Amino acid sequence: MASLWGGRFEKDMDDIVKKYNASIFFDQRMYNEDINGSIAHVTMLGKQGIVSNEEKDQIIAGLETIRKDIAEGKIVFTVEDEDIHMGIESRLIERIGDVGKKLHTSRSRNDQCQVDTRLYLRKEVYEILNSLCYLENVILEKAEKYADQITVGFTHLQHAQPITIGFVFMAYFQMFKRDIERLSDALKRLNYNPLGACALAGTTMPIDRHLTSELLHFTAPTENAMDAVSDRDYSLEFLSDASISMMHLSRWAEEFAWWNSSEFSYIAIDDSFCTGSSIMPQKKNPDIAELVRGKTGRVYGALMSILTTMKGIPLGTALAYNKDFQEDKESVFDAIDTWKATIDIFAKMLDKTEFRMDQIEKQLGKGFLNATDIAEHFAKQGIPFREAHSIVGHMVKACENKGCDFEDLTDEDLQAIDKRVTKELLGDISIKTCVNARVSFGGTAPSEVRRQIEVGRQWLNSLER
Ligand code: ARG
Repeated sequence: MASLWGGRFEKDMDDIVKKYNASIFFDQRMYNEDINGSIAHVTMLGKQGIVSNEEKDQIIAGLETIRKDIAEGKIVFTVEDEDIHMGIESRLIERIGDVGKKLHTSRSRNDQCQVDTRLYLRKEVYEILNSLCYLENVILEKAEKYADQITVGFTHLQHAQPITIGFVFMAYFQMFKRDIERLSDALKRLNYNPLGACALAGTTMPIDRHLTSELLHFTAPTENAMDAVSDRDYSLEFLSDASISMMHLSRWAEEFAWWNSSEFSYIAIDDSFCTGSSIMPQKKNPDIAELVRGKTGRVYGALMSILTTMKGIPLGTALAYNKDFQEDKESVFDAIDTWKATIDIFAKMLDKTEFRMDQIEKQLGKGFLNATDIAEHFAKQGIPFREAHSIVGHMVKACENKGCDFEDLTDEDLQAIDKRVTKELLGDISIKTCVNARVSFGGTAPSEVRRQIEVGRQWLNSLER
């Protein structure tokens, strides 16, 4: 079959070239965007008198029949189509005849593929933002549920200070909040219209790029045609945002795997989010958490792939469009699918995960979690913090020697460490009292976590959706 661009050729492409060159197998997922772009384009051509009104209507009607047939699976694209742009245009000509040949006036596949990719990415960005908001909702609900529940806070994989579980949830909430803000910000730069940039240098035809921008809900046409066909930094921005967010998800997934381990047993992941072993009958493995970690590598790979593709493509030496650019799509599509699915599954897994407070409580007595609180308590009584730190350090030593807790130290033990310290001065040093007192802004006290939840909820509700 002769290609739409075949005029100056004497031979058909070799079969292996066709296959290697084609993007139809992956870019057909943008068929709706391609048709929407074409409809906006021909509407503008009609308005500008470049095609007649009647021709415009015929082209739009033809495109709509193609849209319907693709949706119903009645059109099967093959390697002969090369890409979605020609796949649709050639069918349009088949169906409506010569009028169809006017659609590609003042347009190139170079700007067309960019219109499609930007429209497609925009649609997916909205979906991902929705998914992230759903995740944030689940986090807020869990944070509320576990606002008062105390767990062990670690540094260096050592028991450090007591914290509330709600506090941990709200830490992750902040990360995904920034992911949402970053992605919303990327949308501002993504949403520009390359249509009418043509091959690289614009056109002699009297087109109106502002009109197509309006029709396609872009903010404005891209300012420079050469930049329009060769810019892929909107994809890179998307992939950077995806990578950062996957990193956040992966960190939490790693935490899930730890919490779920036999040693920790802090959580019970719902059976429906675990898998078994084909040989060890007792196993219930946190495969989903592990896959989240694994898939993060895949999204980083997409970012690296396009960064590397782009680094050697100059503009000024008339190389504005290079076929290298065709490689922009698969990585972006894969990252979209992976990121979106990961957020959704993670949110559902989180929703179905319960903390095993009986297991966690067993750990709270270990590791002198309230040591810092006691030092701060002494500091409040006028002992300089450095001295208070040293006194509590000696108390830890004394406890270790006696094999007891702070509460079990006698007045004699305390006086031997420092004359200023008595059991009375020590006061109530229960873990709960200590946690409740961590009310500094951003701290772990339940009252402070509830404030964070409130602010978080207000922010989430304020987002336009
Ligand atoms: N399938 C191509 C892509 O996605 C469309 C542009 C082709 N342009 C060209 N000059 N060969 O990049």
